[in-house]
Amino acid sequence: MRDFEEYIVFKDLIEEHILDFLPETDPKSSALYEAMKYSLKSSGKRIRPALLLAACEFSGGEAKEALPYACAIEYIHTYSLIHDDLPGMDDDELRRGLPTNHMVYGEGLAILAGDGLLTTAFETMNRDMLIYFDDPVKLKRRVRASNEISKGAGCRGMVAGQAADIEATGKSIAGGLLDYIHLNKTAALIVAAVKAGAFIGGAPKELLTPLENYAENIGLAFQIADDILDVTGDENETGKKKGADKVREKPTYPSLYGLKPSRERLDELTGNAIETLAPFYDNAEFFIKMAQNLVKRTR
Ligand code: FPP
Ligand code: MG
Repeated sequence: MRDFEEYIVFKDLIEEHILDFLPETDPKSSALYEAMKYSLKSSGKRIRPALLLAACEFSGGEAKEALPYACAIEYIHTYSLIHDDLPGMDDDELRRGLPTNHMVYGEGLAILAGDGLLTTAFETMNRDMLIYFDDPVKLKRRVRASNEISKGAGCRGMVAGQAADIEATGKSIAGGLLDYIHLNKTAALIVAAVKAGAFIGGAPKELLTPLENYAENIGLAFQIADDILDVTGDENETGKKKGADKVREKPTYPSLYGLKPSRERLDELTGNAIETLAPFYDNAEFFIKMAQNLVKRTR
């Protein structure tokens, strides 16, 4: 990811507020809180929350009003990485250039840090909805946003994709199943981010389908780029161990199709994503640059 102006503005806003929605905790549970903060503060790209804020502005809202949902989606993403790295899943020791959560805090606390982040995400959204309890229009938009995030993160989205990924590991699978895995374990939360932002911003109906198509295309592209980087990336940039997918016999685009066809598919998907927003080009700079940067992604 190369940083570009519109993205930096959102990223800075997220960095400034990422810890704001964590609840006060009892000093007796400070180890849990430290483990949660350890992963939240490590240098993530904040792509999902940036997309959520951008979609809110694109749809006519103010980015600031979507902050609780943006941070909530980053809490969910961070939980998923902590659990994904556990010995029972991918068993990774390095993430974002730092020891993974369980390497620092132990397996038990890492599981609970993930649980804490996931539940805090929903507490954060619920607290915001209570603020708008007497404003039916704004409340409805927020309920819709939270509903999208619940679906994207759960057993109709990311969790289902992760389960299919575990089942497919070590097996030879068909392309249809690989796309199911990638669309659910990675694209579903990206789609949820964009749709949630659009709902909070009050997007008219005709914006929702193009935005959803855009997000699904970049979501799949994002995971293919991740697969390619596992083969060709520089560990100093990705912050993860290179070649881990191959060692673990994970189902990936390069393992199924080879590197060149994977790169071609990546180009095709980012092209499709940009094409989808063609009627809105005057106003879609952030989304276009985000898609273009995905192809050149090095971390
Ligand atoms: C890297 O995101 C993450 C992915 C490419 C998604 C992989 C999917 C999972 C780990 C699903 C896990 C699900 C469960 C339920 C455990 P990124 O490149 O944005 O990472 P960053 O935040 O470090 O920048
Ligand atoms: Mg992994």
